[in-house]
Amino acid sequence: MRRIVVTIDGPAGAGKSTVAKQLARKLGYRLLDTGAIYRAVALTAQRLGIAWTDSPKCGQLAVDLDIRFEFIGDKNHVFLAGEDVTAAIRTPEISQGASQVSALPEVRAGLLELQRRLGAGGGVVVEGRDTGTVVFPKADAKFFLTATEAERARRRLSELTESGAQVDYEKTLAEIRERDLRDSSRDVAPMKPAPDAVLVDSSAQTIEQVVDSLAQTVETRAKRI
Ligand code: DC
Repeated sequence: MRRIVVTIDGPAGAGKSTVAKQLARKLGYRLLDTGAIYRAVALTAQRLGIAWTDSPKCGQLAVDLDIRFEFIGDKNHVFLAGEDVTAAIRTPEISQGASQVSALPEVRAGLLELQRRLGAGGGVVVEGRDTGTVVFPKADAKFFLTATEAERARRRLSELTESGAQVDYEKTLAEIRERDLRDSSRDVAPMKPAPDAVLVDSSAQTIEQVVDSLAQTVETRAKRI
């Protein structure tokens, strides 16, 4: 069976990361977390005192980004110039920063080639907001994964609480709303389903059910090619 490019886009908290990781494992595919790349740009900018609204400077950071992914046990670790930034890029502050830098045209342009290079050759599950529309428009299997706002806030809250953060439901819901609005209303590559994406609502499904149904679709598509 051919090893294809699979894209999973959708809003924050829809379950993309978990689904993408398990799907990749089930298929024996690589995993490309494009959100982590935007997060890495936001973290680098913050450390250098560059504003998350500065398109030319953040764009240059994107072009120069020295990022590497490596599975350690069950976790996809992110290394920035050799430093493990897996936890540092997951804070609520960097979530907002990533959403801001991702609206900058020069950042998006700067990261396009990197993402395509990391996904080259197929046999990869790519996760993000525009991976089926802009980064891999010719991907053979595209999914747009979503869930109700309340369910997404609940999931994000338990994720953050597990990692030791002090957050509450209302604040998490407000942050998700703010981020979704920015991600879907920006001028460049806004978050939206590709016309040929399969829409999946994960609100009332378990992760296993979602992963199984995506894997079936991928296998059918891969056989057809
Ligand atoms: O999936 P995530 O929460 O790690 O993504 C962080 C931010 O990066 C998100 O708010 C929007 C942005 N992003 C994007 O614009 N395009 C992508 N392909 C992936 C993420």
